[in-house]
Formats: sequence, structure tokens, C-alpha cells
Amino acid sequence: MNFKWRSPSNIALVKYWGKHGNQLPNNSSISFTLSQAYSETSVSQENKTDDGKIEIDFYFEGVKNENFQKRIEFFLTAIIPHFSFLTSSRLKIESSNSFPHSTGIASSASAMSALALGLCSIEKQLTGQLQDDESFFRKASIISRLGSGSACRSVYPHLAMWGENKGVALSSNEYAIPFLEADQVFKTFHDSILIVSSDEKTVSSTAGHELMHTNIFADVRYQQANQNTIKIIDAMKNGDLATFGQIAEEEALTLHALMMTSNPSYVLLQPNSLKLIELIRTYRNDTKLPVYFTIDAGPNIHLLYPHEFETQIQAFIKSDLSNFCEKGKVIEDKVGHGATLIV
Ligand code: PMV
Repeated sequence: MNFKWRSPSNIALVKYWGKHGNQLPNNSSISFTLSQAYSETSVSQENKTDDGKIEIDFYFEGVKNENFQKRIEFFLTAIIPHFSFLTSSRLKIESSNSFPHSTGIASSASAMSALALGLCSIEKQLTGQLQDDESFFRKASIISRLGSGSACRSVYPHLAMWGENKGVALSSNEYAIPFLEADQVFKTFHDSILIVSSDEKTVSSTAGHELMHTNIFADVRYQQANQNTIKIIDAMKNGDLATFGQIAEEEALTLHALMMTSNPSYVLLQPNSLKLIELIRTYRNDTKLPVYFTIDAGPNIHLLYPHEFETQIQAFIKSDLSNFCEKGKVIEDKVGHGATLIV
């Protein structure tokens, strides 16, 4: 039995930063599902005698990778309670990414969600469960979350929301839910990623989440994120670009403010990140075009704008912004249709 899924990366608009228990978020978050940055993972299954152990062979970009294999064995051992077939199967897992290593794009969300989807396909085939899409993708989201928290949002098209929030019906800490009611403009949004540096991050997200336990602003931050989730959902339902952009930028800068005020403290923004922010805000003031930024846990700037302004914004990137990028590098992405089964 063999299943291959393509699953994309996602970029958070309201950020998840701080967790508890088994990968449960301390606040709700919402993200754009991307399309160009994705992982493709095939999982082949053969029966073996059930000896209670995991047996896998892992290949990354066609090459056996012992380091990744150990991490995946550890993850699969942790999720044995969710998939009874794991200890009676020999698995061959082959994964590759559409984007090269060390481009400053995190691969954990796409990689973990692609693997989780493959495991759910095997379970569906073996047990006859997970027949309807809702239960299939819900379980895929839960398993993705156990692999890498924010990965749980990658399985849905366009926009996905994760984390219990009193203002959002059916929201849960265990899995993400699709946000379907966004105005069409947000379903074709662009994300041009301005690469300030492609170096590995200096703080892992695991360490980053940990720092929130002692951050003096933690409680007020969780309140702000829960409120911002509601506000941005309303803005996106109403096609309100200005409120959407104000919240996206506030969230990005808050994430970095939290890192700067942690102990130990981290400054991940670089001089060129700040220069780009300044240029984007000045351009927006001058032209009144709806172009905004968000930032992940690194120095790169994600430029967010509606499809209809592509020509103007591309010209702006070329003339003004790419000078401040590492070797002029910009990765073009946009909102996508979610994960797809390839074979
Ligand atoms: O999923 P993790 O544990 O790698 O954490 C992701 C954290 C951010 O990317 C900074 C924010 C988010 O919500 O994706």
C-alpha cells in the first residue's frame, strides 16, 4: 500500500507562541495556507508481526537520512495510541520539499502534515474508518499538531484557525478548523517572501514556546491574540483590508517583541528587516495600496497583498525592496488550496 500527499507550508497572521500539555496552544491562531512551498511525502506500508515496535526506512530527497529517521521514529512511537497499525507495519517514508534547504522557510509544517495525511490514508484503507472528509482531515490535523503545532493548520485550503476561542464556534486546541467565510480577496492573496537571511534560525520554536512560561507579558499576550483572532476573522469576512493589515503587522511585531523581552532574549530582526518595514509603510502611505507585512520567527519579511495589485507591487519589490534582500532573493508564494493526494 502506498500513498503520496503534497502538503503546503502556512504563514500565521495571528501567531501561536506559547504552549502547554501535549502541543496545546496557549492562544488561538489563524494562518494562510500557502501553495508554492510544500512537502511531498509518500508512505508505503507492508505487514509485519506485531512486536510492539516501529520499523521504518526514511529517505529525504532520495537519500537515506538517519538523523531525520530517528526523529520520525520518536514521533511515530509517540502516536502509536492513535494508529493501531503502526506496530504491525514496516513503513518506507520518502519526503522531499519544493523549496531548497536553508532558504529561511520552515519545513516542519509542510513535512509533518504530509506525513500525517499519509498515515491517515493507510488507516482509512486498513480499517475502513475516516471515510468522510471531515473526520479524515480532523484526524490528520490532530496528528500534524502532535508533530509540530502549527502544522495542524496546513491541511486546510486558504485559511485555517487553531485553538479554543469563545468567539469561534467549534474551535479546538486539539485540531485546526477551516475558515471558509473569508471574503474572496483573501483566498487569492499573495505572499512575496523577502529573504533578508537564509541562515538557520538562532532560536528553535521549541525553545521559543518555552520562553513564554517566564515572559512577564505572557498573560496579556494570550488575551491580545484571542481578541486579534476574532477581529481578523471579522475583517476577513467583511473584506476589510485595512483592519486585516493592521492586525497582521501588530501580530508580527508582537511576536518579535516577545522574543526580545524573554530571558534569554533574542533579536531575530536584522537591520534590513527594519529597513524593509519602513519602506513598506512609507509606500503604503504614499500610494494607499493595501500592502502589509507579517514575519515568522526569523528576519525575513512576508509581503501580503491582494492579487489585483500584483503588477504594482512586483514593480515596487524590484525597484526598492530586493536591494535589501540577501542576493536580491524573493520567493513568490500565494494562498493555496490545501493538501492534495497525489497517489
Ligand atoms: O509549530 P511550531 O512549534 O514550529 O511554532 C510555530 C510558531 C510560529 O511560526 C512563530 C507562529 C505560528 O503560529 O506559526
